[in-house]
Amino acid sequence: MTKIIAVTGTPGTGKSTIARKLSLLLHYQYLDGSQLIKSAKIARGYDKKRRTAIVDPALFTREVLKVRAKCAKKGIKGLIVDSHLAHFLPKRAVSCCIVLSCAISALAKRLSKKGFNQPKIRENLDAEIFDTILVEATESGHKIFRFDTTKPAGKALKILANKLKKL
Ligand SMILES: Nc1ncnc2c1ncn2[C@@H]1O[C@H](COP(=O)(O)OP(=O)(O)O)[C@@H](O)[C@H]1O
Ligand SMILES: [Mg+2]
Repeated sequence: MTKIIAVTGTPGTGKSTIARKLSLLLHYQYLDGSQLIKSAKIARGYDKKRRTAIVDPALFTREVLKVRAKCAKKGIKGLIVDSHLAHFLPKRAVSCCIVLSCAISALAKRLSKKGFNQPKIRENLDAEIFDTILVEATESGHKIFRFDTTKPAGKALKILANKLKKL
């Protein structure tokens, strides 16, 4: 069965960047969680105040498992799931969960560059300060690798990829 590696973190911590790089290093397929939510039409609505889609993690899981089944048929070894919901995938489906983190000052700059409004920047900085995603991922029981993206990830990412190969 195709392995799943979940890549999660507060917006701006580098999920898409790191997940894509890992997919190249490991020769695994990359899955864009936001794209999947759109194409599978699983958003229950849109939270205007927070400017985010409201998604039931169970529906997200169902769609990811469908993608994995297709990958398995093609003989693909692994799937890297890039999403702030990736850590809600069930423990049994995931071989490990990478939780990204970033220094607050750098994260504030990245979110501003992404065009986030002030309340949304504040909300995400608070989530990062309180390690919200790390706590949720731990509660899900995943094997966790924490990875800091404050500085450009070069050698450290290769070391992580080598650890992941051994799983
Ligand atoms: N070491 C790093 N790892 C990942 N992203 C980084 C790193 N350093 C800077 N960045 C930048 O941070 C920004 C946010 O990354 P992105 O992958 O879009 O985050 P996310 O998908 O979590 O919202 C990008 O502009 C990316 O180039
Ligand atoms: Mg992204």
